[in-house]
Amino acid sequence: MLETVWHVPVMLQEVIDYLRLEPGQTIVDATLGCGGHSLEILKRITPGGRLIGLDRDEDSLAICKERLSEFKESCEFVHANFSDLDQVLEKQGIDKIDGIVFDLGISTHQLKDAQRGFSFQEEGPLDMRLDKSSYISAYDLVNNLNENEISHMLWNFGQERWHNRIARYIIEERRNQPIATTAQLATLVMRAIPFKYRKSYYRIHPATRTFQAIRIAVNRELEILESVVKKAVAVLNEQARICVISFHSLEDRIIKHTFRALKAEGMVDIITPKPLTPTVSEIERNPPSRSSKLRVAQRIS
Ligand SMILES: C[S@@+](CC[C@H](N)C(=O)[O-])C[C@H]1O[C@@H](n2cnc3c(N)ncnc32)[C@H](O)[C@@H]1O
Repeated sequence: MLETVWHVPVMLQEVIDYLRLEPGQTIVDATLGCGGHSLEILKRITPGGRLIGLDRDEDSLAICKERLSEFKESCEFVHANFSDLDQVLEKQGIDKIDGIVFDLGISTHQLKDAQRGFSFQEEGPLDMRLDKSSYISAYDLVNNLNENEISHMLWNFGQERWHNRIARYIIEERRNQPIATTAQLATLVMRAIPFKYRKSYYRIHPATRTFQAIRIAVNRELEILESVVKKAVAVLNEQARICVISFHSLEDRIIKHTFRALKAEGMVDIITPKPLTPTVSEIERNPPSRSSKLRVAQRIS
């Protein structure tokens, strides 16, 4: 399983440098994924350190248990939504941590697995649940929301210019048959966008924003961000840092405003007044990193 390159960690060196890691520290990786960030963290906090790794996705935890096995005495892998960070730490008997990283979004292994339904390039069921035990899937939203609700979802979470047209096409398609697969939805989105705009407006695949919007809605990705950043800062030791990597402007805006609010309360210093972006050479090596932004804040008192 581990011969495959699963996911290339984004801005790895930057995250490692900003966390200022030392042996003996307790660090949280709130989004384990394939453990790329965690592996480098563990090399620096051991001996004596401890890593608490969270993921909503059991597949990610299974990959990390194997990949990070040489550090297993120093790790706790927890199947949890990071919105429950406070409860997870309480269960572990931890009241303060020396750093935390969030690398938001999804991992390459999730995107490439057609059965997970995240990709418009792979034919698969319309699922998109990060946590396979959660109830609502993309199929449920696409086939049950009304036209207005779909249109709002596409605009609010994808800033999709053609949200009204795509919503109308979805409703029309549903009269004939349920929309059950990723390919069916991707084809429908292509048809909904007027021909002359398909190439000029979209540097990316025309279905990108629709798929992003539905994924965010299925996993309720934005609504928990502000509160979890506040929870994380509340448990940071003095001088300890929080690093957040986001992949679209909606996430980045929430992080920026939450950091500013915490600064106004005297809780943090903002270490990156402007977000860091990957270097040109990183983007060349790892194109999916191109939209990432890293923001870092440091606990004051
Ligand atoms: C971009 S990947 C992380 C990649 C990782 N840093 C690496 O180097 O391999 C994001 C991971 O976060 C997980 N995730 C997303 N939202 C989450 C949430 N609310 N709670 C816990 N895990 C979440 C996803 O399942 C995915 O495995």
